[in-house]
Amino acid sequence: MRRTIVILAALGYFGASLLLVAGFGYLWHRTDPAPEQPIAFPHTVHAGNLRMPCTFCHVFAELSRHAGAPPVQKCMDCHRAIATDREEIRKLTRHYEEKRPIEWKRVYAVPDFIYFSHKRHLRAGLECSTCHGDVAGMKRVRRVSNLVMGWCVSCHRARKAPLDCPTCHK
Ligand code: HEC
Ligand code: HEC
Ligand code: HEC
Ligand code: HEC
Ligand code: HEC
Repeated sequence: MRRTIVILAALGYFGASLLLVAGFGYLWHRTDPAPEQPIAFPHTVHAGNLRMPCTFCHVFAELSRHAGAPPVQKCMDCHRAIATDREEIRKLTRHYEEKRPIEWKRVYAVPDFIYFSHKRHLRAGLECSTCHGDVAGMKRVRRVSNLVMGWCVSCHRARKAPLDCPTCHK
């Protein structure tokens, strides 16, 4: 009887540890600050070396809540001719030919119950880099701010932007 209890306790303990490890694995995965993308798109080349303005691709940033990602067509304007022999550009071309949009993994996202708008912040004179860091220097986009409430509120306090709850909470 004693032995059975010990064995059960041990099994329970290992079971719980396994669940815990799985749980952390899941959380870590969900909060990966630099997710691998379906196509290894280098900001270093486009925004860095080629000095393309951020809003050339993220066309909606100054106009709406969302900055948006460019359609495949925009990439193909150049990549129909440029670097066509590279593996990543072949992948891109297949998406274009099969009319399959690229499912980029989100790096920055706030929960559904939060209201955030790019337009308002850019109108207030903030730069992309204030919130997103030096994206032009990142081979793979990495999240540099934690997007928790304290992050929003501390800047709002510093810049005398609204602090009442319904400003951000829907
Ligand atoms: C204005 C032209 C232009 C546009 C638009 C453009 N690219 Fe590029 N891209 C380039 C140039 C130039 C290079 C550098 C090619 C080289 O290394 O010789 C490059 C390099 C790349 C590479 C690296 C290829 C490698 O393996 O070396 C990838 C991947 C890529 N682009 C994907 C994209 C995607 C995805 C888009 C659309 C979101 C896009 N590009 C839009 C011009 C462009
Ligand atoms: C040639 C087009 C192009 C240019 C120019 C460009 N980007 Fe991007 N950007 C993309 C694409 C495609 C993605 C999605 C893939 C990825 O995350 O790398 C992206 C992703 C991002 C993300 C992550 C979005 C998310 O999922 O949360 C941020 C932030 C970003 N870009 C900021 C910038 C900034 C800042 C600049 C200017 C310094 C810039 N981008 C210039 C095409 C571009
Ligand atoms: C005040 C901080 C702030 C500034 C300034 C800012 N962003 Fe963002 N960005 C965010 C937040 C927060 C999110 C997540 C928004 C969401 O989930 O709706 C985000 C999301 C994004 C995304 C993911 C797709 C989307 O539209 O939600 C891209 C791309 C992006 N930003 C690009 C840019 C670019 C390019 C600039 C400059 C023109 C810029 N951002 C300026 C805070 C900022
Ligand atoms: C400048 C924007 C902003 C303002 C103002 C703001 N919040 Fe938030 N709040 C957020 C963001 C973003 C999150 C989600 C990220 C997080 O959980 O930290 C959040 C999350 C929360 C959460 C956790 C909700 C959950 O389910 O995780 C609570 C509770 C909360 N806020 C209460 C308040 C109250 C009360 C006020 C007014 C005194 C307020 N907030 C004002 C941006 C804001
Ligand atoms: C780096 C500074 C900074 C950060 C970080 C920031 N904000 Fe703001 N935000 C501002 C400024 C400045 C304004 C005032 C813009 C104006 O005057 O129209 C503003 C305005 C706003 C508004 C519009 C207020 C209104 O009167 O309607 C909302 C909504 C908002 N922010 C939400 C957020 C949320 C949610 C976050 C975090 C996810 C956030 N902000 C992070 C600086 C910031």
